[in-house]
Amino acid sequence: MRASDVFRVAGKVAFVTGAAQGLGRAMAEALAVNGARVVLFDRDAAGLERVETALTDRGARVIACAGDVTDGAAVEAAVAATVETFGRLDICIANAGISDPDRALLHRTSSDGWARVVDVNLNGVFHTTRAALGRMAEQGAGKVICVASMWGLAAPAALQPRPAYAATKGAVVNLVRELALEYAGQGIQVNAICPGFFRTETRPRDADQEAAFNAFTPMGRVAEAEEIAGTVLYLASSASDFVTGTTLVIDGGVLAG
Ligand SMILES: NC(=O)c1ccc[n+]([C@@H]2O[C@H](COP(=O)([O-])OP(=O)(O)OC[C@H]3O[C@@H](n4cnc5c(N)ncnc54)[C@H](O)[C@@H]3O)[C@@H](O)[C@H]2O)c1
Repeated sequence: MRASDVFRVAGKVAFVTGAAQGLGRAMAEALAVNGARVVLFDRDAAGLERVETALTDRGARVIACAGDVTDGAAVEAAVAATVETFGRLDICIANAGISDPDRALLHRTSSDGWARVVDVNLNGVFHTTRAALGRMAEQGAGKVICVASMWGLAAPAALQPRPAYAATKGAVVNLVRELALEYAGQGIQVNAICPGFFRTETRPRDADQEAAFNAFTPMGRVAEAEEIAGTVLYLASSASDFVTGTTLVIDGGVLAG
């Protein structure tokens, strides 16, 4: 079997949340430049437009769709528009996520900050996977990829307290296991990506933070956003057809310690 066949995503239809920057942008790009048709969803309309233009200029077929993952109706409408435009939905990436605004110990965490993280990181994944799984169940096929974090499998407090982030990412990891079982008989695979420290447009925020991330990572560096490409092509393609309910850790060795 040729690698180009096993990892093929050409012609597939993908929906990616949080696609205006960072890992979402990098995953959308990996799919689009390899021939997938991609709907980009994000609350940042201007950022989305930039990504849409950049990818379209490279010959990719992408559509920007502005909206917020905390709004279930907006996500449902965007997934419906995806199917209307491209005829089906093969790949859904629930990626949009935020970190604790307070970055404080739990007893100093505001209710608003906590609720906001739960709304984006957990309710957003609920809205996104619900909309996608309905379509995929009708098709009898699909790949759902949820972006959790290494901090869904271990706790971040040794570096910085982020209680809501830890709680929601852990929840996403176990939701993925649940969804994998619920849809295992329907041709749908559901998996999680658990990234370590990746460079995005906003992270690391300065040299000190980058030095801290580097020191925490056995490989001694943060990953570039584009290094997520192999992981997403694996989980989005037939290469992972017998893989479901798993967490793919891509962290430069942090969780091995
Ligand atoms: N970058 C890392 O080091 C890292 C590590 C582990 C996990 N992650 C996870 O990867 C995912 C992407 O992270 P990133 O670093 O690329 O983040 P980022 O902040 O660079 O990008 C996130 C994108 O999601 C969008 N977004 C945020 N809230 C949204 C909402 N409510 N509705 C729609 N769009 C929304 C933002 O506008 C932005 O474009 C997140 O789930 C994050 O927790 C990132």
